[in-house]
Amino acid sequence: MKSFLEQYPSAKTEILKAAEVAGYLWQKGWAERNGGNITVNITELVDTDKLSAAPARGPATPIGMTLPHLKGTFFFCKGTNRRMRDLARNPMDNGSVIRILPDCASYEMIADNPVKPTSELPSHLAIHDDLLAKGSTYRAVIHTHPIDIVAMSHNKEFLVPGVLTHLLWSMIPETRAFCPKGLGIIPYQMPSSVKLAEETVKGLQEHDVVLWEKHGVVAIGNDALEAFDQVDVLSKSAQIYLQARSMGFVPDGMTDEAMNELKVAFNL
Ligand code: 13P
Ligand code: ZN
Repeated sequence: MKSFLEQYPSAKTEILKAAEVAGYLWQKGWAERNGGNITVNITELVDTDKLSAAPARGPATPIGMTLPHLKGTFFFCKGTNRRMRDLARNPMDNGSVIRILPDCASYEMIADNPVKPTSELPSHLAIHDDLLAKGSTYRAVIHTHPIDIVAMSHNKEFLVPGVLTHLLWSMIPETRAFCPKGLGIIPYQMPSSVKLAEETVKGLQEHDVVLWEKHGVVAIGNDALEAFDQVDVLSKSAQIYLQARSMGFVPDGMTDEAMNELKVAFNL
C-alpha cells in the first residue's frame, strides 16, 4: 500500500514544512527531549470520503473537549514523547494522521503508524476549532520552549498584561511590524489540561502568540513555517534585551513615537 505522503502530495508539502520547523526548533535549543508539538489541519488536502472510511490504527480516544467545528477534519500531529529532531528526519514515524469522529469529542489514528498524538492535543485542537469558527486561513499550530522568553516569564514584572509585548516591540522594528498583536500571557496552568486549552484560545483571540508562564509559547500561521517565524521574531527581541542586560545596561528601547510611526506606516 502507498504511504500517506505518496497518496496526498499537497498534504506531504505541509507535513514536510512541519518537519523543517521541527529541525529549526531543535537547532534553536527550544526542543529538549520531546519538548514542543506541532499540528497541521490537512483536511482540505486529502480525500475526506476515502479517509473517513479508512481503518483506524487504534481505539477511539476522547479529546477531553467537544469541538463542533472539527466535524470531519483531519490533522497531522507530532507524537507524544517523540523528539523534534527525529520528526525532522522522519515525520511519519514520529507523528500520525488523526481523524475527528462525528461526536467532535474523540479521534482515531488513521495513518501511517499508530503514533499516539501529542499530550497537548486539547490546546491544539481547541485552537484549530476556533480558527475554523472564525473562517481563518491558518492551518498550523506550534508549541515550543524558547529559553529566552520562558526565562522572562519567571519575573512577575513581565507577566503584567502588555508589559512584555511593549518591551519586545521596542527592541527592534521588525517585532512591532510582524507581531502587531503582541504576546498574550497565560498564567501557569497544568500542561495538557483543558483549562490551559481554554485560556490559550482566549489569548490567541487578541494576540499573535501566547506565552504559557514558566513553560513555553504557542503560535499559529497559514503553515508551520509562518507559525515558527512568529516565535523567532519575538525570541530575537528577547535575545537583544538579554544581551544588553548581560553587557551591563538596560536597553533604551525604541520610543513610543518611533513605534507609533511604524504602526501608521504598516497600517497595523
Ligand atoms: P508531547 O511530547 O506530548 O508533545 O509534550 C511535549 C510538551 O512540550 C508538553 O507541553
Ligand atoms: Zn511544552
